[in-house]
Amino acid sequence: MAENRTKKWWHDKVAYQIYPKSFYDSNGDGIGDIPGIISKLDYLQDLGVDILWLSPCYPSPLADEGYDISDYYGIDPRFGTMEDMERLISETKKRNMYILMDLVVNHCSDEHEWFKKACEDPDGKYGEYFYLRDKKEGELPTNWRSYFGGPAWDDLPGTDKQYLHVFHKKQPDLKWENPELREEVYKNINWWLDKGLAGFRIDAIINIKKAHPFRNYAPDREDGLCSIQAMLKEATGIGEFLSEMRDRTFKRYDAFSVGEVFNEKPDELPDFIGEDGYFSSIFDFNETIFGGSDKGWYDAKPITPDDYKRCCFESQAKAADIGFLSNIIENHDEPRGVSHYIPEGDCCPESKKLLAALNFMLRGIPFIYQGQELGMENTVFSSIGDVDDISTLEEYKVALNAGLSPEDALKAVSKYSRDNARTPMQWSGGEHAGFTTGTPWLKVNPNYPRINAASQIADPDSVRSFYKKLIALRKHPEYKETIVYGTLEPAWEDRHNLMAYYRKADRTLLVIGNYQREAQSVTLTAPFRRVLLNNQCSLDEKNGTVTLLGYQVLILEM
Ligand code: GLC
Ligand code: CA
Repeated sequence: MAENRTKKWWHDKVAYQIYPKSFYDSNGDGIGDIPGIISKLDYLQDLGVDILWLSPCYPSPLADEGYDISDYYGIDPRFGTMEDMERLISETKKRNMYILMDLVVNHCSDEHEWFKKACEDPDGKYGEYFYLRDKKEGELPTNWRSYFGGPAWDDLPGTDKQYLHVFHKKQPDLKWENPELREEVYKNINWWLDKGLAGFRIDAIINIKKAHPFRNYAPDREDGLCSIQAMLKEATGIGEFLSEMRDRTFKRYDAFSVGEVFNEKPDELPDFIGEDGYFSSIFDFNETIFGGSDKGWYDAKPITPDDYKRCCFESQAKAADIGFLSNIIENHDEPRGVSHYIPEGDCCPESKKLLAALNFMLRGIPFIYQGQELGMENTVFSSIGDVDDISTLEEYKVALNAGLSPEDALKAVSKYSRDNARTPMQWSGGEHAGFTTGTPWLKVNPNYPRINAASQIADPDSVRSFYKKLIALRKHPEYKETIVYGTLEPAWEDRHNLMAYYRKADRTLLVIGNYQREAQSVTLTAPFRRVLLNNQCSLDEKNGTVTLLGYQVLILEM
């Protein structure tokens, strides 16, 4: 990393993602809300996080849990009022914290007025906000499969046309080629930034650029359709839209923007997150997508500790001289990281802390997803009827079609279900985990008596206390420069189930984790000065050889 790179206000921050519907319910209707978030700001400040990213809380039919927006200028009454939102912004400011909202502009909701007007007059102004094609009997405009299953085209109600939706049919794609639509998006972003937001997380943004002219691609499943990726791979020129958006919005406010970017082309990273990139940062999904299969979730393969290490180091190397990635263990679209990245049967407080330290000390902006700091785990689904998430329901169908029994299909999709992350936050061992006094909209994970915030706050050895120490270390005046700006050098890279790396700037730190249940020894190349963090109460070191207990992780100053 070039030392002369401009320092930005967000480089040394720690971010925390809130899924409002499941965070804290203030009025007993079973749905988390903005007043609920406000009442937990002290909890978040105590943890030490700075930037809060809220998943969508705009008016929405919630077909895709808020990622289908029907009014970009409002707050859904289930989540509160605009006054609540303004109060949240001012309360966070008082605590030197920042709010990011979710910018969902690849598509809107089919209940947005633009879409309704397009249905009324498809040849008029609003018809140009969407991708419309004349309907032909027995033939789709293209054979693209939407992310949530089935064709990406549906009938435009009341007309003889069809519209494109790369996600759910209640999420019609917005036509970014139309400059008027782009103006509407920029106006909305600036309106929110004027309200005092610090920036945005930008949803599904890679999808805004389609390959023209639209055409069919080779089918990749028996349904005769092809993955949307086939088209996206051919799309070029997204940079024109993204740089225009940056210049017209984020840049004018010095806002923080983090893109949900999958599969950017290898040489494009500098355009995305370089010195004058489209975004401040993009998420690193290299670990997230590992093991995925084109066939569906049922065919995915688990990730091993060695795979995890390789994925992290690949991303680190790729971004090192270019910019800052945002590092995650999980988010609202993924299973719980501790259930996914820790080998089966080994999920315990020590292994959770190991995963936390290995991820948190990477170069980049750490993002914590609500409940991750407690080591929240995947939930249990007793039947497919327990599932809310549209993508799990689709993957269940795919698994059945592939010949799995209903039990096996449920088992397969349970591992990847987005609902794992969406169960209510476990605040206490009380009824409904202290999330609500009513009936939670989604079942609470039954393990809440064992895993909850109240018990962990009081326990200096809890997973949450460990996260708190990691955050404090990142902010420590003596180590901050190294942790934020230092280089990352892998160490003992070929050692099985060992993940270790140096962070080097004015100081040298060694992060070293034994990613297995058996002990393992390492001979250090130089003596260490200080132990900055240890997830065990002992450290076995003799003549420069450190013997790490199962899942022991150390942060050493060399
Ligand atoms: C993003 C969101 C996901 C949503 C999708 C469509 O991937 O994170 O939750 O379903 O975009 O908006
Ligand atoms: Ca509520």
